[in-house]
Amino acid sequence: MKPTILLTGKSGQLGSELDRLLPKLGEVIAPDRKDLDLREPEKIRQIMRDVKPQLLVNAAAYTAVDTAETDQANALAINAEGPRLLALEAKKLGAMLVHFSTDYVFDGSKKAPYVETDPPNPLNAYGRTKLAGEQAIRDSGAAHLIFRTSWVYATHGRNFLLTILRLATEREELKIVGDQVGAPTCASDLAAATTGMLVDIFTSAKSQFTLPEASGTYHMTATGQTTWYEFANAILAEARRASQDLPWLASATKGRPLIARRVLPISTEEFRLPTRRPAYSVLSNARLMQTFGVTLPDWRTQLQNCFSSKRIPANPPSVVSSCE
Ligand SMILES: NC(=O)c1ccc[n+]([C@@H]2O[C@H](COP(=O)([O-])OP(=O)(O)OC[C@H]3O[C@@H](n4cnc5c(N)ncnc54)[C@H](OP(=O)(O)O)[C@@H]3O)[C@@H](O)[C@H]2O)c1
Repeated sequence: MKPTILLTGKSGQLGSELDRLLPKLGEVIAPDRKDLDLREPEKIRQIMRDVKPQLLVNAAAYTAVDTAETDQANALAINAEGPRLLALEAKKLGAMLVHFSTDYVFDGSKKAPYVETDPPNPLNAYGRTKLAGEQAIRDSGAAHLIFRTSWVYATHGRNFLLTILRLATEREELKIVGDQVGAPTCASDLAAATTGMLVDIFTSAKSQFTLPEASGTYHMTATGQTTWYEFANAILAEARRASQDLPWLASATKGRPLIARRVLPISTEEFRLPTRRPAYSVLSNARLMQTFGVTLPDWRTQLQNCFSSKRIPANPPSVVSSCE
């Protein structure tokens, strides 16, 4: 069966990669925010009735972690209420909903990778709204896959990779948080793994994980773990090795040389961000492997792959870092 797929968030880091890959599986209808704003319940109901998708992939989200603290109504509408309505409409149509959530549902007090059954305890508004979205989807009764991921970056959009590259053209010394541990995950690897699983689910007659049996919450991040400090060092090492005329790299640095000579680790406290973040948010991907046979590459390999990507940036890089 070739499903009709409704994709939200196609301008985002993950959404744009899914928009590129999902046509392998079916016909993709991907309205932008002006045609489907997740804060508008009637628009959600209308588009679901018009498109009647068999598969709904929600890559839209409110991802500005710091801004969410003072803009909780919008964050809640986009991260929880919109997904709740998508799920209820999906249930009515018998469609399946794929949704993405975050490592920030956890408080970071654990010392070993979090598993799906660990109790969530978000430290910030973004994490609370994302957790509320997960719960609403689980409660809806719709067939669903919720993939919790972490520290997402891409060669386009707003992210740590592009922020570090820009700062490295402006400053000789960078001070980067060295006491938060997580798994940087490249949006293209996330999209490729998601699309691969969906192709198996929708096209394999022998699929062992036909829904709704496989409905549930899964962790899906790069393998391995690091700190923001180590990640910044790895980014700069790759950037120095890479060909400077890579289109996305040239766009990220605006063609200027990297002048950063020193990267210093600092504590979360010294960095003085307004919002609390988990000190440790590594997620165990064992359940994803056991159920779907899927593992994402190690974070270093994902980063190296980025630096060999010759793709022209979809959106010009932004200077603001959002969700990590
Ligand atoms: N980024 C991370 O570090 C990170 C970490 C863990 C989990 N995640 C999760 O991974 C998923 C993808 O994140 P991402 O980094 O790809 O996000 P992103 O780059 O910030 O993109 C967000 C997308 O959502 C759209 N959007 C925002 N508000 C909307 C609204 N009211 N109605 C409809 N669309 C709206 C945006 O459209 P516009 O372009 O029009 O604003 C954009 O297409 C999200 O569920 C996120 O919570 C991300």
